[in-house]
Amino acid sequence: MMNEGNLTIRSATIGDLDAIVEMWWESSRYHEELEPRFQYAPDAIDATRQFISKQIESEDSHHWVAQKDDDLVGYVEAMVVERAPIHLHRRIGYLGSIYVKSEARQKGIGTKLWKTAYDWLMTKEVAVINLMVASKNPRALDFWKKLNFREIMVRMELESS
Ligand SMILES: CC(C)(COP(=O)(O)OP(=O)(O)OC[C@H]1O[C@@H](n2cnc3c(N)ncnc32)[C@H](O)[C@@H]1OP(=O)(O)O)[C@@H](O)C(=O)NCCC(=O)NCCS
Repeated sequence: MMNEGNLTIRSATIGDLDAIVEMWWESSRYHEELEPRFQYAPDAIDATRQFISKQIESEDSHHWVAQKDDDLVGYVEAMVVERAPIHLHRRIGYLGSIYVKSEARQKGIGTKLWKTAYDWLMTKEVAVINLMVASKNPRALDFWKKLNFREIMVRMELESS
């Protein structure tokens, strides 16, 4: 747990589920605005609630929340995933999601969330950490580049007509 001033970064509990799902939805809406190709199913919120509640209880994944006074202002999700046997590093870290509420941004909270996730992934002894960033999200690209991530792949998509 990291506590600086009135900001605490702590592991999420099932009691945080509603607030995390709400932030996930805010992030999804933000991504939909950036890129209309991001389209979510009508039951995406329910599916996410189920997914996150399982993740919170899993050994190989972890959620942390940033709490300011009584409010949650951000969260991050990290997991350990197994890749195909063709890779030198099969067990890798994966950063599933990170979000800081708009009014709390650019105060270092995203960086603190990332550092907490990174420390946990290091205890899992992963040699590589992957994540996905929307091409039209320059703020996030800048954020990750500043944290020494490098772009190594571009995902391309064709809509069938
Ligand atoms: C990306 C995000 C998590 C960053 O959180 P944050 O708390 O604002 O990040 P920090 O304050 O720790 O910022 C660290 C660095 O990121 C970069 N950054 C953050 N916001 C930025 C902005 N608006 N424009 C350009 N660079 C920015 C800067 O390099 C910044 O360093 P600086 O403050 O010294 O300039 C936050 O903007 C967010 O939640 N965005 C919406 C969801 C999203 O895009 N998630 C990422 C999915 S991959």
